[in-house]
Order: sequence, then C-alpha cells, then structure tokens
Amino acid sequence: MTTVACLGTGRIGGEVAYVSALKGFADELVLFDINEPLAHAQKLDIIHGMDIPVSTNPADIKDADYCIFSAGYSRSPNVKTRADLFDKNLPIAREAAEQLKGFSGKLIVVTNPMDIFTWYFAKHTELDEGQVVGFGGLLDSSRFTLALHNMGIDKKGIVLGEHGEHQVPLFSKLGIDVPLPVREEILTGLRGSSMPIIKGKTGTVFGPAYHIVSMMDKIEKGRKIICSLPANGAYEIDGCSLGLPAVVTGNGAKIDESLRFDPWEKEKFLAATEFLQGLCRRV
Ligand SMILES: NC(=O)c1ccc[n+]([C@@H]2O[C@H](COP(=O)([O-])OP(=O)(O)OC[C@H]3O[C@@H](n4cnc5c(N)ncnc54)[C@H](O)[C@@H]3O)[C@@H](O)[C@H]2O)c1
Repeated sequence: MTTVACLGTGRIGGEVAYVSALKGFADELVLFDINEPLAHAQKLDIIHGMDIPVSTNPADIKDADYCIFSAGYSRSPNVKTRADLFDKNLPIAREAAEQLKGFSGKLIVVTNPMDIFTWYFAKHTELDEGQVVGFGGLLDSSRFTLALHNMGIDKKGIVLGEHGEHQVPLFSKLGIDVPLPVREEILTGLRGSSMPIIKGKTGTVFGPAYHIVSMMDKIEKGRKIICSLPANGAYEIDGCSLGLPAVVTGNGAKIDESLRFDPWEKEKFLAATEFLQGLCRRV
C-alpha cells in the first residue's frame, strides 16, 4: 500500500495525484491545499474517474509514504526566474514544515526555487535529511534529451546543477564533440524551455507530473535518479543542495561521485554552486 500526499493541489499537485493513481503507483491519496474548495474539487474529479480512497484531512499527511510539496507561487511571464520566487514561497515552506512534523515518509520538494527549499527542509526542519529529495533534474534531463533529438543527436541527456538558470547539461557524456557556441545555444534554449508553456497554458503540468511519479517509482526500485540533495562535500561542494546523480533509499541517499566534468562543465558547476550557496544562506 502506497500513500501519496500532495501539499498544494494546484496544477502540479493535482496532476501528480491523478497520474500516481492512474499509473497504479498510489493506492491512497491525501490532498491538502490552503484553498480547501480546490482540494475538494481535485478529489471529486479524481474519484469520478477512479476508485481510490482520497483524504482531504491534513492530519493524514504524516502517515503518507510520499509527500509532494507543491504549494506556493509559480512563475508567470513577468517572473522570469525560479529564484525570483524565493521571498514569496519561503513563508509557505515554513508553514509546510510545521504541517510535516511527525511525517516519516519521503518529502519530494517541487516548489521553486526547488534546490533552496530542498536545502531548507533537509537542514532547517525537524525532518531527517534522508527524507528530503528535490525534483527537477529528471525534467531538465528530459528536455535536454529532446533538444538533442531535435538536432539529430539521439543520446540521453543528463542535466545537473541548479533547477533554473544555472543548470549544467553534461555534453562530455554524449561521446561526441559539441562546440562551445553550440553548447551555449542549447543551454539558452533549456533555460527558456518552460516559458512557452507558462505563456500558453499558465504553467507546466504533464511533464513535471510524469517525471515526479517516475522519480517516486525509481526510488521504490532503488534506481539511480537525478535529484536535488545537499552535496555534503560530494564533488567538493558544500553549503547548498543541487542536482546530482544519486540512489535514494529508505535509509537516505548515496550520491554517485564517479562523474568527471570537462572545463566548460566545471565552470558552470562552480557558478551553480556559488549562486545556490548564496540563496541557501538566506533560509
Ligand atoms: N521543480 C519543478 O520541476 C517544478 C515544475 C513545475 C512547477 N514547479 C513549482 O511548483 C510550485 C507549484 O506550481 P503549480 O503550477 O502547481 O502552482 P499552482 O498555483 O497551480 O498551485 C499552487 C497551490 O499551492 C496552494 N498553496 C499556497 N499556499 C499554500 C499553503 N500555505 N498551504 C497549502 N497550499 C498552499 C495554492 O492554493 C495553489 O493551489 C511552483 O512554485 C512552481 O514554480 C516546480
């Protein structure tokens, strides 16, 4: 029996609840939103299609196996970067930390700036660090894979670093030479990849929800994922959480430290680290 709770049931929380039920990952759902009629509407919409128990009692969150933290403000065409959401979403993360007291499952952090809130929940709340995993890298990697495919390169892309402007696509792992100007052009495209969706339909939904449910499934199966975690010295990084390859289990996370980066990637990684350390110091 797997129970998935969604703390915040807007576009992302609602869709994660639906997809996790649809794929048979969740046997039970808990839906909580500060906008109670919305949580209730999401519940009704799901149970009109599927026979699954859905609680809207926030007290049930603590008994869930997974809790998706997707409460808070999202980007709009006027909010250019995820980091710009920090001040507005920090009080919401603090409120969520109160609600998560006694929660013993895995917290999947989605709300942006996701890497900072992953750090916040891992380092500054009553949760154990091993309970906290940030989501973003699998989506960024999928977008990188698509960008490569559109250029006629059928390779699986990996994106580490910040889920944001300082993301680091690993060109050196592709086994082909991609000239620096082409790398920069692809990176610029990746940075802007969700804006047409935000402009066209107010926010991303299907892509993130699909990968969030896949990530929970991979955690269950002990498979390697790209996720945000406090680096704690891995790759000589400290003082922030950022996208890294890791195997996440019930006992915590084991970061894969075997990757080697080329000079372009090292420079981008350093910029990501310095940027994230600055914001993590503010939580
Ligand atoms: N990490 C990723 O890859 C990724 C992808 C997409 C979106 N996001 C982020 O996820 C967050 C949610 O995005 P969305 O599109 O679902 O937004 P949304 O506006 O559709 O939903 C957010 C919900 O949070 C609720 N909420 C606000 N304060 C709350 C509180 N204190 N307690 C409970 N619920 C509260 C709102 O009522 C709303 O329903 C945003 O920060 C967005 O930037 C991250």
